[in-house]
Amino acid sequence: MNMRRKIILKELGLTPLWHFKPAASVETSEAKQFVQPAAVQQMDWEQLSAEVTNCTACPLSQTRTQTVFGVGDNQAEWLYVGEGPGAREDALGEPFVGPAGKLLDNMLAAIGLNREKQVYITNIVKCRPPNNRNPNNDETQQCEPYLARQIALIKPKLIIALGKVAAQNLLGRDDSIASLRGTRHEYAGIPLIVTYHPAYLLRALPEKAKAWEDLCFAKEIMQSLP
Ligand code: URA
Ligand code: SF4
Repeated sequence: MNMRRKIILKELGLTPLWHFKPAASVETSEAKQFVQPAAVQQMDWEQLSAEVTNCTACPLSQTRTQTVFGVGDNQAEWLYVGEGPGAREDALGEPFVGPAGKLLDNMLAAIGLNREKQVYITNIVKCRPPNNRNPNNDETQQCEPYLARQIALIKPKLIIALGKVAAQNLLGRDDSIASLRGTRHEYAGIPLIVTYHPAYLLRALPEKAKAWEDLCFAKEIMQSLP
């Protein structure tokens, strides 16, 4: 969303409409197929998964090999959210299967979890951004209803945002990871914590100690929940 519209919405006392359909696209027959948030929020798991598989709502659909919906237990208590598929994920159709995924698996194991049980793993965008660039606002906004519906269906007890893109999109804030970690946030009433992205940890090994602190914090929160 451009800055001016953001400001106008703010002045009107409105929150930004993330799924606002740009007027220019409405009448053209060749308009790309936008995500219909209201319809998505009615879907069951199978419908949602099929909708994502066939999605062409943003330009990432043109460069992906396949969509990457998520992996794990769709009744999980722990939900991990990354940024978007990388090359390996795009090729295999599963999130976090490259080196960062190996580290994530180790982080899960360290607190007695694994990706088949109690855990669900997905991303902010379901298609790979070319050259692993960050997804842009159009892409994250188009894709957001899918994650929102996944969360509504899974009903996790705790959400872990992995890295800046996940944290900023889930919380709707621009703050740094450093300022967001260590605090209990919320997404739709569900406790959410922020930690470093495992790919970042692979490049910045000293930060691993902080990621460990975050995991302990997450575990503490989970244990305190009914
Ligand atoms: N990085 C992510 O954010 N997600 C993946 O699925 C893989 C790498
Ligand atoms: Fe659709 Fe999301 Fe893929 Fe874009 S990234 S094409 S919105 S599934």
